[in-house]
Amino acid sequence: MYTDIHSHILPGVDDGAQNLEEALSLISSAYKHGTQQFVATPHFYASYHSLGEQLSLAKERLGLLCQEIIKKQIPVKIILGFEVRFFHGISSCEELNHLTINGSKTLLLELGPQPITDSIIEELVELYYQGYDVILAHIERYSKISGFSKLKPLIKNRVVKCQVNAASFVEGPFVKLSYKLVKKGWCDYIAGDMHSVLHRPSKLKAAMLLIEEKIGKATANKLIKNSNKLFESVLKTT
Ligand SMILES: [Fe+2]
Repeated sequence: MYTDIHSHILPGVDDGAQNLEEALSLISSAYKHGTQQFVATPHFYASYHSLGEQLSLAKERLGLLCQEIIKKQIPVKIILGFEVRFFHGISSCEELNHLTINGSKTLLLELGPQPITDSIIEELVELYYQGYDVILAHIERYSKISGFSKLKPLIKNRVVKCQVNAASFVEGPFVKLSYKLVKKGWCDYIAGDMHSVLHRPSKLKAAMLLIEEKIGKATANKLIKNSNKLFESVLKTT
């Protein structure tokens, strides 16, 4: 059983599922491929979202989605998180706890395309000292960004954890790098980051089978377990 810790399945909240029908298709398709637990992680951009509005919209849509799932008897669990784009001042944001996964201290954080500067590193370290468990979303995408090497000590010392997208193991420009990250022990989580059934479905099962084949069953199982354990631990926080 898989847990997907990064998914855009809430209807009409971001560039993921645009309506309830699409959200249900995404979930049903992932369920058929073994995913039974989801963290719904709509985008949060501090530069144009109001935290209060995005939070209440996400909660409302999660409620609607859960009602439909119960009606249709799809046996999955969904909890709320966000995919927060890094913003300067994030480490002093008093409302950051509203953007974590299920109110825990675990935060899915996305970096922008800008160079990784010392001030970004300082804020990541500050979040660590505040007790946040920061997971960098799709770490493979940042490898060509200037300043990426500044992140390496944080990854090595577990100041941040890393998530790689399942699709990156299957196709595209990051295939080689994604396996390398797993082999180095720099990939803590693999997630679907699914947006749409047609264009960006979940490739979680495909990725896990490839990892099993190319790296080994023990590694694939460990990665599956990491996401399952995260889900269990954030459920306990509420
Ligand atoms: Fe995402």
